[in-house]
Amino acid sequence: MLAFLGGTGPEGLGLATRCAALGEEVIIGSRSAERAADAALQIATAVPGARVRGMLNADAAAAADVIFLCFPYEGQATLLPDLADIIGDKMVISVIAPVLIEKGKAPQLREVPDGSAAQEAQRLLPRARVAGAFQNVDAHDLRQLDKRLDCDVIVCGHPETKAFAMQLAERFPGVRAVDGGPLSVCRLVEGLTALLIGINRRYKCHTSIKIVGLPETRPQ
Ligand SMILES: NC(=O)c1ccc[n+]([C@@H]2O[C@H](COP(=O)([O-])OP(=O)(O)OC[C@H]3O[C@@H](n4cnc5c(N)ncnc54)[C@H](OP(=O)(O)O)[C@@H]3O)[C@@H](O)[C@H]2O)c1
Repeated sequence: MLAFLGGTGPEGLGLATRCAALGEEVIIGSRSAERAADAALQIATAVPGARVRGMLNADAAAAADVIFLCFPYEGQATLLPDLADIIGDKMVISVIAPVLIEKGKAPQLREVPDGSAAQEAQRLLPRARVAGAFQNVDAHDLRQLDKRLDCDVIVCGHPETKAFAMQLAERFPGVRAVDGGPLSVCRLVEGLTALLIGINRRYKCHTSIKIVGLPETRPQ
């Protein structure tokens, strides 16, 4: 069972909808039970037969086996400490890109003392098996269920969570998962999102990334 904390926003809702369409049982987590229920209803409407529920974040984290962090970076330091015991050693996938957006300036990666949002999540959830993934996948594309994503998803972090996230990502039509290495590499992946947002604004489009030159077989 997969929980999407902050799954009422476009990114979490898009990921949860795609996972529900794959037949996964999903839970939308929110700070508000009402908003969670509304988002769950949106998924049930978009995906006939979807197994989906809405819950408060803590209940969603308790019920799920794998937890996606899909809220803004600013919320992490407040939300996660209260969830550390509930999450324990579960798999956690951070989708968070700590991008600073200021009027009239190009989007920038925020300074994160731990290195990246995913590394901060690991510090706040010390027993959890944390990985970062999907930070470069645009919510707009995710929410168009009939659209092939045609992109790479770079996954970094705990080996078991990385393997899980890579397998899940490759079930999305048009996605290739790329092993990005350890959790410390998330800083670079999160930074790419700032780059993509700037490009999207300039070209008025929705971009994603693809690595060229990779061999067919993965490193062991
Ligand atoms: N949007 C994209 O295209 C995109 C692409 C790649 C990565 N991401 C990353 O994915 C994450 C979610 O993106 P989004 O666009 O869906 O974000 P969002 O709409 O701003 O926020 C998602 C949800 O997080 C909850 N939330 C907001 N502020 C919070 C806080 N201070 N503490 C706890 N929860 C809070 C809200 O849910 P409730 O009020 O219901 O609790 C909100 O609906 C972000 O970290 C972003 O960097 C987004």
